[in-house]
Amino acid sequence: MTIETAFLAVMGLAAAALCISLAAIWTSFAAMRNLPALRAGPPNRPLDEAPHQLLPEFEQNNRGADAPLVTWSPEMMRQVIDRELPGAEIILVSNREPYIHNLNDGKVELCIPASGLVSALEPVMRACSGTWIAHGGGSADHLVVDEHDRVQVPPGRPAYTLSRIWLSEEEQEGYYFGFANEGLWPLCHIAFTRPIFRESDWEAYKAVNQKFADRIVKEATSSAPVVLVQDYHFALLPRMIRNALPDATIITFWHIPWPNSEVFGICPWREQILDGLLGSSIVGFHIQFHCNNFTDSVDRFLESRIDREHSAICYGGQSTLVHPYPISIEWPPTTLEDLPSVEECREKLISRFGLSPETKLLVGVERMDYTKGIIDRFHALEQLFLRHPEWVGKVAFLQIAAPSRGVLTAYKHLHEECLAFVEAFNERFGNGTYRPILFLDEHNNQPDVYTAYRAADACVVSSLHDGMNLVAKEFVASRDDEQGVLILSTFAGASQELLDALIVNPFDPTAMGEAMLRAITMPQEEQRERMTRLRDVVRTNNVYRWAGTMLQDAARLRKRRAPEAENVAPELKSFAPPLLKRLLSGNRRPRGREAARRTGSNHRSWL
Ligand code: F6P
Repeated sequence: MTIETAFLAVMGLAAAALCISLAAIWTSFAAMRNLPALRAGPPNRPLDEAPHQLLPEFEQNNRGADAPLVTWSPEMMRQVIDRELPGAEIILVSNREPYIHNLNDGKVELCIPASGLVSALEPVMRACSGTWIAHGGGSADHLVVDEHDRVQVPPGRPAYTLSRIWLSEEEQEGYYFGFANEGLWPLCHIAFTRPIFRESDWEAYKAVNQKFADRIVKEATSSAPVVLVQDYHFALLPRMIRNALPDATIITFWHIPWPNSEVFGICPWREQILDGLLGSSIVGFHIQFHCNNFTDSVDRFLESRIDREHSAICYGGQSTLVHPYPISIEWPPTTLEDLPSVEECREKLISRFGLSPETKLLVGVERMDYTKGIIDRFHALEQLFLRHPEWVGKVAFLQIAAPSRGVLTAYKHLHEECLAFVEAFNERFGNGTYRPILFLDEHNNQPDVYTAYRAADACVVSSLHDGMNLVAKEFVASRDDEQGVLILSTFAGASQELLDALIVNPFDPTAMGEAMLRAITMPQEEQRERMTRLRDVVRTNNVYRWAGTMLQDAARLRKRRAPEAENVAPELKSFAPPLLKRLLSGNRRPRGREAARRTGSNHRSWL
């Protein structure tokens, strides 16, 4: 080889290496741009100004193309059930119950818990009846149930059955506080709180899941009910139901984020959890990103066949659809019906807190939880005051923080930290009667929460990580005056839909402070334009669409699983009507006295 050719060869290799490095940098850059959790704006500017997605996620791939033309209502959802799932029995399972009865001074009082799950699902159950099975956690819950532990709700205008399950203190300790809330909750949220996994908690979690499975079997009056399993308290339940009722249609909805497979792998019982969830016909998440993370976790830890094109996982001879269904709220919200005008709501708050009428009011509403970024929004307010001192005295932040999971160390610390921060902050920036942060660490009822939304100039949702966040949607729904600005974390699932909010990174207090400034100085016309578009999204993508779409998908799967019934020739249909009727109506299996009446014997099953 001559010196020239050697030189040329070296140069060629160097050029190739350079190209490969540039390609690698470009690929990682492109990958980062595709990850919602890594979206980032220019330093110290609200992300809203950075280029980001053009269409809400649910409108991509044409899903929801009819949305502007159709506003889903309870009636529409009922029609879907009657038409697509005739005769199907609906059973919903969640840990938290929709109505809690408590004893107060010897009197039974009704309480509606601060829970996104409850505010989303209660109107759905009102519309489609059925049975809601949940933990009876109220001090007077056992006083109002019948001998089967059932009570008809809502009180005064019963529409469905609440079937209460009693848990001992040890069960709650291990299953709810332990495995669900010290293990799975921090595992699934990127909030930098370390998950704790204890063998004893896991045992309690398994036992309580089985307890709920047994109750479902007891409540079911058919062999193929539609069971709606809610949330991370019940990862093992779908498999248990599948074993007991093989023909059930099981829709599991995971209300919180699903972490990437590397993080999920931390859980010592990762395989059992995935196996449990794959007992479902459908596993739903709020956004596509969480579906992808779930599918990747299955791919990594279970022997399965994954069909990414059709979002299906085939495992143990059974297929599960993994799909995003962005949860929402009822439209229009019932709570709005009895509320006074926006002006009156504002006056009410101004006088309650002794504010001057010109005060710019920011509001935050959540459970006291470390994933919600409560202290982070106070840091942002601090930045606003430091960078724009002319606003000190003119802005107040009303924070409603409902007590939640208070026996856990992480939650106790957060509460103490918030109280100390607020005291120091008000000392530093307040004077006379002016307190810049109004901190209500107590349970507030829905009308009070909606009054605060309506009185506010802006609502701040600064979750460090959140599946969806329904406070953002409630705020929008409450503003029928089309005013008010939503400041929304990019790490909340809602940011995939509510593109007209000011999207912020809660880990960047300076940028969030600037977003607050932008909100309180936004011209009314811009507020109106943004709020109108936000309201269109929440109206068209309301909770009836969420539930209706899932039920429609479930009905399709259910029909495909009964092809014998569907494919029978018309002449045979008239030949064997009872059999077909049973198959098409979901194999209704009469029990007890009804079975005896129909079959002429005692407790003989049809199958
Ligand atoms: O966000 C997850 C979730 O389970 C919601 O579905 C519910 O609104 C909230 O947590 C309530 O938590 P808890 O029932 O523990 O008070």
